[in-house]
Amino acid sequence: MVEIKDVKKIAEEEIRLVNTIEKLENFENKYLSKKGILTRILRSLKKLNPEERKKVGKEANELKEFLKKEIDFRRKQLKERDVEEKEKKEWIDITIPAKKIERGHIHPITLIRTQIEDIFQKMGFSIVEGPEIENEWYNFDALNIPKEHPARDMWDTFWLRQNGLKMQNSKLKMNQRLLLRTHTSPVQIRYMEKHKPPIRIIAPGRIFRYEATDASHEINFYQVEGLMIDRNISIANFKFIMEEFFKEFFGKETKIRLRPSFFPFTEPSFEIDVKCSICNGKGCSVCSYRGWIEMAGAGMVHPNVLKAVKINSEEWQGFAFGLGLDRLTMMKYKINDIRLFYSGDLRFLKQF
Ligand code: DAH
Repeated sequence: MVEIKDVKKIAEEEIRLVNTIEKLENFENKYLSKKGILTRILRSLKKLNPEERKKVGKEANELKEFLKKEIDFRRKQLKERDVEEKEKKEWIDITIPAKKIERGHIHPITLIRTQIEDIFQKMGFSIVEGPEIENEWYNFDALNIPKEHPARDMWDTFWLRQNGLKMQNSKLKMNQRLLLRTHTSPVQIRYMEKHKPPIRIIAPGRIFRYEATDASHEINFYQVEGLMIDRNISIANFKFIMEEFFKEFFGKETKIRLRPSFFPFTEPSFEIDVKCSICNGKGCSVCSYRGWIEMAGAGMVHPNVLKAVKINSEEWQGFAFGLGLDRLTMMKYKINDIRLFYSGDLRFLKQF
């Protein structure tokens, strides 16, 4: 019969070497399972005489309890160690400064558009929008530009196809033909159809021209349309509003002039020039040695336009203007090529 003392000694030795949960389980099996050493010892007790049986039995049971406790203790230890190691591996230093996420920013055209909107809003104008796909009536007819009028040549138009047919050849009523708007002026018509005067709006938006590109021409660019309709609106009112705008936008010293021009939807019509800020009117390459730079088309709204939207031109008058948003942005930032706005070149865009 083995001595319980010896078994205990060996077991203690063995458990000291146990360094994984797996090994601990093997150890537990070896001593305490159904076929384990201690179970076998306890089973063999019946072979002993009563006295020995009592003594060895007691010792064996004590050892069993002892091993159970040891195993529990060791298991707890190993589990804690495992958790600690896992945490160590997964540890992150939350005090390290975060990697900067690169943020996009607003395009220069949008930046200037919001500045323009702010200035006009302060003067009581609302901001409205219209569709980029227009029909011929809004883009031309309602603006007093009839089909055969030579003024249609002023706007090189992208016509749209419908049902695979070239729209220009389709059987639709002529003025229903679709196109990409060539100016923001159709928004005037859309607004006046739905709203009664007095009216004070601006309509910024993208427009399209079918033409060759160069440093000052693009196939799409931006305009800000303006319209003010009320009783007794005169050229003096118009000039004042325009002067206020340009002074706010370019600075207090800014000078503007009105130059006679022609647009079918205004009478009289003007071109608004701003005194060149580069040469102060003396003439330089930026203003083509004219001393003035053209910034907008404008004029007093033609009675035929008011008639098209059923507004009585005896009672209501007003003015309209179309600012070149790209041109204004180019002047403000001294940009010399309109194509930079649409090139997506980050070296350019990152400067704003
Ligand atoms: N729509 C004109 C263009 O694209 C600009 C313009 C001229 C707008 C006179 C107006 C205006 O509202 O009154 O060239």
